[in-house]
Amino acid sequence: MTASTVPALRPLTLGPHQVWPPVVLAPMAGITNVGFRRLCREQGGGIYVCEMITTRALVERNPKTLRMIAFGDDERPRSLQLYGTDPEVTAAAVRIVVERNLADHIDLNFGCPVPKVTRRGGGAALPWRRRLFARLVTAAVAAASPAGVPVTVKMRKGIDDDHLTYVEAGLAAQEAGVAAVALHGRTAAQRYSGTADWDAIATLKQALDVPVLGNGDIWEADDALRMVAHTGVDGVVIGRGCLGRPWLFADLEAAFNGRPERRMPTLGEVALTMRRHAELLVDQFVAGARNPTRGERDGCTDFRKHVAWYLKGFPVGGELRRSLAMIESLAQLDDLLGKLDPAEPFPVTALGQPRGRTNSPGKVFLPDGWLASRDDDTVPEGAEMDDSGG
Ligand SMILES: Cc1cc2nc3c(=O)[nH]c(=O)nc-3n(C[C@H](O)[C@H](O)[C@H](O)COP(=O)(O)O)c2cc1C
Repeated sequence: MTASTVPALRPLTLGPHQVWPPVVLAPMAGITNVGFRRLCREQGGGIYVCEMITTRALVERNPKTLRMIAFGDDERPRSLQLYGTDPEVTAAAVRIVVERNLADHIDLNFGCPVPKVTRRGGGAALPWRRRLFARLVTAAVAAASPAGVPVTVKMRKGIDDDHLTYVEAGLAAQEAGVAAVALHGRTAAQRYSGTADWDAIATLKQALDVPVLGNGDIWEADDALRMVAHTGVDGVVIGRGCLGRPWLFADLEAAFNGRPERRMPTLGEVALTMRRHAELLVDQFVAGARNPTRGERDGCTDFRKHVAWYLKGFPVGGELRRSLAMIESLAQLDDLLGKLDPAEPFPVTALGQPRGRTNSPGKVFLPDGWLASRDDDTVPEGAEMDDSGG
């Protein structure tokens, strides 16, 4: 794929913001914190969404939630994802965001397939209740628009193949005044299994006038160009593909600018990236901690989950991998990284391969009577989680 085969590439417009390249780091709970986003931003342009924040926790001024809303001084636009199920609570949360100038863009999460969320009618279950969905998005846009803060929605295709919602929900979101709609080309029942349906993304693009963002299975920069060519989308959303590979954003910038170079870092270069990532997490946790020693340990603990992704495909022994995944300090990390062979070339077998979650399809748990009552717009009981990032 070359840039010349890709239809007119333009900056992605989200309200007053122009984003080039048209690349979005997908919100990922437990991953896309301020440290990880800085690491990715150091590689290339785009918009980098923070971890999901629940509207209930924000309205209740939960201290952990407030700490999670952290952005770099140079991070623009500051992009925040909210999860909510109650139009009034969502509007109140959005008002807090705009009144306290906490973010420049708000994304609403309607894609979460986790049973504890869908069984209460939240996340990927909610667009099925079309009137509630429309009320919720309208309430968020009404609260954000006086401050000029664009609202977007991120959703899945539907609950399962027999209960698809994406075109209707996309049109409703457009009607409500969103700046863009992102579609992950899977149903909730698929979770992260199989392959994302890019044809569905093309269908949504055809149906809407507002920008459409395509999400699902972009593992390499050239996959992003392929998605644009296949679907005509206005931008791409990158989730698992950048886990242990933040340089994917450099490749994406090159690809969207029509340049052929793609990064294939040696193990030595990967080790430097790992060190930078850990250091940024430590900075983040030290900034948020009363006790700096504790901050270093917490930052290192947060880094552990990334180790296997960085080393995927490299010939590194099990014991060294295990030790790296148990670090408690940067000094320990340096010592262990020093044991890696810096000249080891990047494993081509790891290119284009799924990484992160790839679980099997599963039953979608829903509240009783959910599927039989599309037009009921009662706010589901207890579906507003009061903690964030789950
Ligand atoms: C660890 C993890 C956490 C995620 N957390 C969120 C989230 O909080 N909000 C959301 O909208 N999507 C979340 N997602 C879904 C991603 O944003 C994205 O839609 C999905 O991974 C598909 O894109 P991909 O194929 O590029 O990974 C999460 C995905 C993963 C793997």
